[in-house]
Amino acid sequence: MTLLVIERLTGGYGETDILNGIDLTIETGEILTVAGTNGAGKSTLARAVMGLLPRVAGRVALDGRDILAEPVEARLALGIAYVPQVGNVFASLSVIENLQVVQGVRDARARIAELLAAFPALAERRRARAGSLSGGERQQLAFARALMARPRLMILDEPTAALAPARIAESFARIRGLPALGVSVLMVEQRARQALAISARGCILDGGRVAMLGPAATLLADEGAAALYLGRAATA
Ligand SMILES: Nc1ncnc2c1ncn2[C@@H]1O[C@H](COP(=O)(O)OP(=O)(O)O)[C@@H](O)[C@H]1O
Ligand SMILES: [Mg+2]
Repeated sequence: MTLLVIERLTGGYGETDILNGIDLTIETGEILTVAGTNGAGKSTLARAVMGLLPRVAGRVALDGRDILAEPVEARLALGIAYVPQVGNVFASLSVIENLQVVQGVRDARARIAELLAAFPALAERRRARAGSLSGGERQQLAFARALMARPRLMILDEPTAALAPARIAESFARIRGLPALGVSVLMVEQRARQALAISARGCILDGGRVAMLGPAATLLADEGAAALYLGRAATA
């Protein structure tokens, strides 16, 4: 089943189009990685799906329902969650407050308890200010915040960018577990090889267009993709 359909998506921040006609789907239960060089439009695509891009045209449909005109709040309520590249937690609030301020959550207390059980490092630091957390702990908190509303689609923008090298595998392992929880994933990642390794499919953006799209294994084996977009094979 297809969860999200993106068709002829164009748009940008001002008059210039950054997205130049994107066609892409996310299947239910899949992880899809979006790779591509700096400035290709990956974060812009993530924002457009969440409803955060000022100017868009085309079609974005969740379960067959066109949501392109819907504001962020409506998309959240429909089950889309977004973890931006930066600024994804409230630094001055405690860990627990960061979870409490998420709006529209059914049984919020029980959900917080569930998430603290799933993230022991956060449970241990529940009273600490988010600003005092390590990069890895902050990322876990951003992740937990996004999970509060029990989303069906999680958009992750560079989830491993702020992590110490030792924390990266752990983060990908957590993302790999999302489909089993009923969460499909649209993941933007610079660490494209590692991201593709846990993905069903991958897409490479170039100049706001889909340059390549296919099974993750196909992209990983493609010499052109490797040379242009995926970095050296040895890169961790
Ligand atoms: N807030 C913004 N306002 C104007 N232009 C932006 C903004 N954010 C990104 N851009 C431009 O959009 C293009 C794509 O950026 P982005 O989507 O962040 O690329 P990526 O995430 O693939 O590195 C770049 O040319 C960038 O300068
Ligand atoms: Mg980006």
